[in-house]
Amino acid sequence: MDSREDSLLLPKSFVQNAQRRSTQWYSPKTWRIPFLLTVAILVSLFAYIFFWEPNNMRESRMMIREKSTNPNGHNKDCSSKHFKNETLKTVMEFPFNGLFLQHGFSEFEASDVVMVQGSSEAFVVFDNVFSIARLRRPQSHRASNTIASSPVRPQAPSSLLKWSGDTSGKSGFECIAYNESAQVYLVVQESISHDDGSERAVTYDVTFNETTAVVGTRCVADFAFSHSNKGFEGAIIVTTKQGTSLLVGLCEGNYCVGGKKGRKAGNGRLVVMKRVMQDGSCIYETVDVVNLPPEVAFEDYSAIAIWDETTVAIASQQNSAIFIGKLDLDNGVKVTGERIVDFPRNDNCEIKYCNVEGIAFANENTIVSVSDSMKDDGRQDFRCREKDESIDVFQLM
Ligand SMILES: *[C@@H]1O[C@H](CO)[C@@H](O)[C@H](O)[C@H]1NC(C)=O
Ligand SMILES: *[C@@H]1O[C@H](CO)[C@@H](O)[C@H](O)[C@H]1NC(C)=O
Ligand SMILES: *[C@@H]1O[C@H](CO)[C@@H](O)[C@H](O)[C@H]1NC(C)=O
Repeated sequence: MDSREDSLLLPKSFVQNAQRRSTQWYSPKTWRIPFLLTVAILVSLFAYIFFWEPNNMRESRMMIREKSTNPNGHNKDCSSKHFKNETLKTVMEFPFNGLFLQHGFSEFEASDVVMVQGSSEAFVVFDNVFSIARLRRPQSHRASNTIASSPVRPQAPSSLLKWSGDTSGKSGFECIAYNESAQVYLVVQESISHDDGSERAVTYDVTFNETTAVVGTRCVADFAFSHSNKGFEGAIIVTTKQGTSLLVGLCEGNYCVGGKKGRKAGNGRLVVMKRVMQDGSCIYETVDVVNLPPEVAFEDYSAIAIWDETTVAIASQQNSAIFIGKLDLDNGVKVTGERIVDFPRNDNCEIKYCNVEGIAFANENTIVSVSDSMKDDGRQDFRCREKDESIDVFQLM
């Protein structure tokens, strides 16, 4: 029995009313009002969030969004099948404030670390103070066989050595390298404004005794930078197969420049210099500018280290990663390879080692890093604080 037949059994007015009621209740027309109401509520909610929320709230939300955007170039893939050998493993971490309790200053803006192969010491320079940290690993054979031959341990005597030279203003120390043939360390000030208006690096020969960083010859590099705060971020001293001793400076920016061009990943540069005396003054004369392989796709470059004069490591602060390559000193300086290893990430695969400024090899498979203080005034995400102002030890798989 269909509905039409059924309806014949009922009074006509009742059927008509029922039909009207059913169209009103079930048709899209009747649903329109609650639907429009919901849309209106949602629209006003979004409008409130975007237009009427307090300005500072919106700004801080946008800042956090900006800060969590990925850096140019290399990005970490935490779901990679090769995660283990693409990621450093943290072995030990020492905040400087824990190593040096009685130092008389509140911040450690660490900018570089050097470890001489076969020695038991690490030296750390800081951008903000005229002191150089000396960290020692345990001397005994037994102790040095434990915990990956740790280069630094809080119980080993660590000290802050006073700079014997001029100590006015900020130290501006950016790199420290070791000249093996002279058995002298070289401390580099990133870029200093000179009388002729140019921005060039200045170096100091340094030796250490128990209390002091004894400052010797001062040299000036002839390489001029385009931006005052984009100079050398790392330095090594190598000897070519022909026996020439060379200072290799790592430029912070791509193409060795600052600004937007300086952030175009994959254009890292090394400036190769030779020490010469000219009219009684010491100069680092540029002999070559070497391109890093384009596979080293970093937004910036913050540190360089060598092992055995055959392996080179180059770190990026922005990408929080290290390139491990081969150093070829056959005829000048050449860098090859494409292996990139990341500093450990947080649970969301976000960068947490945000301020790596210096690296050194403790042995072939162990890397020591030093981290600057995080940038203040909201320029860096809060998660950068945990790992800043520290010296850390990592295992390379
Ligand atoms: C990592 O390990 C995998 C195999 O386990 C290998 O295929 C890959 O080449 C390794 N990568 C590096 C950079 O060593
Ligand atoms: C370290 O060198 C400084 C500067 O040359 C000197 O004044 C000091 O006596 C030396 N200290 C030691 C322990 O040799
Ligand atoms: C390293 O020291 C030697 C010996 O004093 C010197 O001839 C050479 O130029 C130095 N190398 C650099 C890169 O400063």
